[in-house]
Amino acid sequence: MIWVKTSANESRYEVQFSDLNFALDMVRPGDIVITDDNLVRHYPALQEVEGSLIVISAGESSKSFANYEAVVSQVFSAGLKRNGRIFGVGGGVVGDLSGFVASTVHRGVDFVQVPTSLLAMVDSSVGGKVGIDLPEGKNLLGAFKNPLSVQVAIDALRTLPIEHFVNGMAEVIKYGWIWDTSLLDLLRSKVLTVDSEPLERVIQRCIEIKRDVVEADFEERNGVRAILNYGHTVGHALEALDGYQDLLHGQAIAIGMVAESAIAKGLGLSDLEPDSVAEMFEYYGLPVRPKDTVDMDRLVGYMLGDKKNIGQGLSMSLVNVPGECKLEHGIDPTRVKSILADLWN
Ligand SMILES: NC(=O)c1ccc[n+]([C@@H]2O[C@H](COP(=O)([O-])OP(=O)(O)OC[C@H]3O[C@@H](n4cnc5c(N)ncnc54)[C@H](O)[C@@H]3O)[C@@H](O)[C@H]2O)c1
Ligand SMILES: [Zn+2]
Repeated sequence: MIWVKTSANESRYEVQFSDLNFALDMVRPGDIVITDDNLVRHYPALQEVEGSLIVISAGESSKSFANYEAVVSQVFSAGLKRNGRIFGVGGGVVGDLSGFVASTVHRGVDFVQVPTSLLAMVDSSVGGKVGIDLPEGKNLLGAFKNPLSVQVAIDALRTLPIEHFVNGMAEVIKYGWIWDTSLLDLLRSKVLTVDSEPLERVIQRCIEIKRDVVEADFEERNGVRAILNYGHTVGHALEALDGYQDLLHGQAIAIGMVAESAIAKGLGLSDLEPDSVAEMFEYYGLPVRPKDTVDMDRLVGYMLGDKKNIGQGLSMSLVNVPGECKLEHGIDPTRVKSILADLWN
């Protein structure tokens, strides 16, 4: 079990390695479970929980304002009281949406995260960020909402499609580059799969790293939390260019981490070879460069809209040496364009 403090001097919540049935047994009459249609197909037990069940369509498009409104209305139809709890059972989409619902209905009710995807286990379920997408951009409407607890439904990984497992691996590998090189050594020693013995240990280590980073900068004020964004400046821009259609988040940030390592090298901020960063992603079947030609002006246009930017130029979280990452400001977009054009041509 891992304890996560919610701010410097306040309460904390537990992240517990659990299984789906254990988590579902926690649900009481008056509680609400929000999940997606894939999970219900795989786990009929969801339909037998003691509380009310709300099922959304799987996929990023469910993190919309319209769907948020629809779910809120179902929550009130189900008669949720101030002392009822909301359980979000699923991947990051369910977690972000249900957490945002929990943070807003009745001005906030208790919320339990039950992550079932690798990405949700190692990243989105810990740290208290919840929210939805707007036509103007991803995750633009949200809140900080700490869960009552996180129940990591480790057994559910067995049914997670391989492409989503690999997607989550991109974030796992990220933790190695930004914080803990021993994680990189372990991931290099043998390809990690759902059945690998060290998987649980790796997930645990990632949660500990996320906890350490979040506890150092809960509300993203001093730049520490921004290191979790390594690869995400380029990655988010690639996702936006793709219109959030085919490119999965993990694929986008894998390409992004290689690109940002080239930027760090090009700017003289690191000696790390982009090829050595790429190697690990290739090992796990993740892409390391865009499939199609990229419109550099549009890409950099999206990067200039990144939430991390302050003042002139681009702000990016760059790895200086393996295991150390720093938020850099004032990076010249023209220079970035030429470095990426060289890398991808
Ligand atoms: N709040 C945060 O701090 C934070 C951090 C990172 C990512 N996110 C968000 O997380 C989302 C991505 O999360 P994701 O990759 O989990 O996506 P997701 O929730 O769409 O899940 C991926 C797919 O796997 C399916 N799935 C999940 N668990 C399953 C299981 N056990 N068995 C079978 N199928 C299963 C889902 O139905 C879906 O089709 C994005 O919206 C992203 O913005 C949030
Ligand atoms: Zn990410």
